[in-house]
Amino acid sequence: MTNVTRTSTSHYEVQKKRRAQFIEDWRNNQRTVIKLEDVEMHPTARGLVSGAYIGPDADKPTRTMDGAAHEIPPGITSSVHRHSWDAMMFCVAGSGWTEVDGTRINWGPGDCLHLPAWAWHRHGNESESIARYMSFSSEPFMEILGFAILEDAGDTAFSELPPRPPYSDGISGNDPYARRIRRLAAEQGARRSGRLHTSWDELEFLQTPRGTRTTFLLDRATGYQASGITMAMFEIGPGRAQSMHRHPGEAWLYVVEGTGHSFLGTEPDQGENHPWKKGDLIIVDHFLWHQHINDDPDNTAKVVRIHMFDSVLETMRALCDPLVLFEEPPDHIRNAQAGDLSTIVWPEVRRPTWP
Ligand SMILES: [Fe+2]
Ligand SMILES: [Fe+2]
Repeated sequence: MTNVTRTSTSHYEVQKKRRAQFIEDWRNNQRTVIKLEDVEMHPTARGLVSGAYIGPDADKPTRTMDGAAHEIPPGITSSVHRHSWDAMMFCVAGSGWTEVDGTRINWGPGDCLHLPAWAWHRHGNESESIARYMSFSSEPFMEILGFAILEDAGDTAFSELPPRPPYSDGISGNDPYARRIRRLAAEQGARRSGRLHTSWDELEFLQTPRGTRTTFLLDRATGYQASGITMAMFEIGPGRAQSMHRHPGEAWLYVVEGTGHSFLGTEPDQGENHPWKKGDLIIVDHFLWHQHINDDPDNTAKVVRIHMFDSVLETMRALCDPLVLFEEPPDHIRNAQAGDLSTIVWPEVRRPTWP
């Protein structure tokens, strides 16, 4: 360990060079669309077959979230593990189950689940066909802070596993220490009693002025206690587009159904179109203007929107104020891009299929 620092240049120069270099290097990590066929699936020590879409395990580093696909072969039960970050599951195919701290949740295509930080969890499949789900976690952000810890306990029974990290109950008093203990105890109590599962059958889609029909999947608005990671589903009408807007990355769209393309540009009229289809992950990066267009004149496109708005993005907005971090065109332009909403024919809502 080094205890004495000696540099010939000042703190100011070191920092200036380091900051310029960082963003220069980071630009190599910017992505557009990650295609299903480019995601290699590998058998893992957990018993699952997994493939990383984006994040450090895919050699596509990110700052806040990662994304991966997992398959549970018939008859397989995964190892049980826990970690210091939380994760969201969006189920894509088959019928599987997930146990969270010993409580079993059965799921099917279109269901979503929350795996809270430090909750022991494992997955199983008792059917005859493969079960598949996507996972989106806050691991990269926890790794940046130095708090990323993973513990795999193999096939240990839940009854023999240690509980989540203990914490002290709130105490009375108005001193800073009592206030801190009380606040953190209340916070953990709430964090540990959030919702864990939404069934596809419970979802209600509502039309928005942006030309889409949407529903929350996993969000604080629907009773979840996540680290800020959230999922919503957008359905784009046949041949229609969501209106253009921009906000900071990382915001992703997992294509559940349909074919289309996304415009990604540094200006509303300067950018490129990137085609996508079922199973792809659209990456909206670094404050680009973007618009998602459904190229199918007969069928809707369904995408799951994933981002870390409720913690990191809100923090950035607070720190950057008065910089505007979410920009939409004026209403009359937005409405023109969304088109006449009354003429969209929305189909009956059905569970997604795979492949
Ligand atoms: Fe996990
Ligand atoms: Fe967006």
